[in-house]
Amino acid sequence: MMNNSTSDSVCPICNGKGFVITWQKDERGNLTEYARRCQCQDKAEQLKLKGTSGIPAEYEKCTVRSFDISLYKDAETAKKIKHAAGEYINHFQQFREQGKGLYFYSRAKGSGKTRLACSLGNAVIATNTMRVSYIKTIELLSMIKDTYNKKDAEITEKEVLDSIKKAPFLIVDDIGTEKTSEWVNSIFLEILDYRISHLLVTIFTSNVPQSDLKLDERIVDRIIKMSIEIHFPEENIRRKKANTECSELLKILGI
Ligand SMILES: Nc1ncnc2c1ncn2[C@@H]1O[C@H](COP(=O)(O)OP(=O)(O)O)[C@@H](O)[C@H]1O
Ligand SMILES: [Mg+2]
Ligand SMILES: [Zn+2]
Repeated sequence: MMNNSTSDSVCPICNGKGFVITWQKDERGNLTEYARRCQCQDKAEQLKLKGTSGIPAEYEKCTVRSFDISLYKDAETAKKIKHAAGEYINHFQQFREQGKGLYFYSRAKGSGKTRLACSLGNAVIATNTMRVSYIKTIELLSMIKDTYNKKDAEITEKEVLDSIKKAPFLIVDDIGTEKTSEWVNSIFLEILDYRISHLLVTIFTSNVPQSDLKLDERIVDRIIKMSIEIHFPEENIRRKKANTECSELLKILGI
């Protein structure tokens, strides 16, 4: 029997069974009974997917809707970006069929790239109950290196690579910040080659435009093919938010 684990109380729709019995009339008018998965099971699955996505706690609850345009001086661009993110989710099936993701970049740190990328991840979990994986490129590379150093590593290089390569929805945070080498190129090429040929969606964030990536040309070509480039305002929203918080506290302190 399936268990309703979304909350301590038992699901009132299925009484914790995980399925509900419904009847449907066939063309002759006969009623047939069948079991349908209860909506509480999606909720339980979504909660699990959130827990295993790797999305940092800071962005766990972020949504496209709560993307605040008023924080930007260039509110016009921020508005366009927010709209584009909303439309990406509304038309997700179409983008998914074509294996097209997005590429968020700005030279400025703190402009909201990671936040919006994670909001998209949260949205596809909620709307498609889809498996999402978030990884920073530097962390991915060090995870793989760790598997070389430890003879009895808990997880093999193949397992690390597979989990990233095959993720149905992948967020690659901060691509372009890693030191490049033949080895780095070969790792990225393996991941992106697999994803491009299986039409798996990837969202990238970076502090450089696609054309300035210092990666092997074959990798850059793949990134260009599999994502739509979006330039974020060159503004540090993190600093702006921190300054506002501080000035409010300073008022309390009377300074
Ligand atoms: N549009 C926004 N609305 C609300 N908070 C934002 C927005 N953009 C950025 N922030 C906040 O500013 C901080 C930096 O954003 P982040 O996405 O990490 O920047 P980046 O990845 O571009 O360096 C985070 O705490 C984030 O929640
Ligand atoms: Mg970031
Ligand atoms: Zn239920």
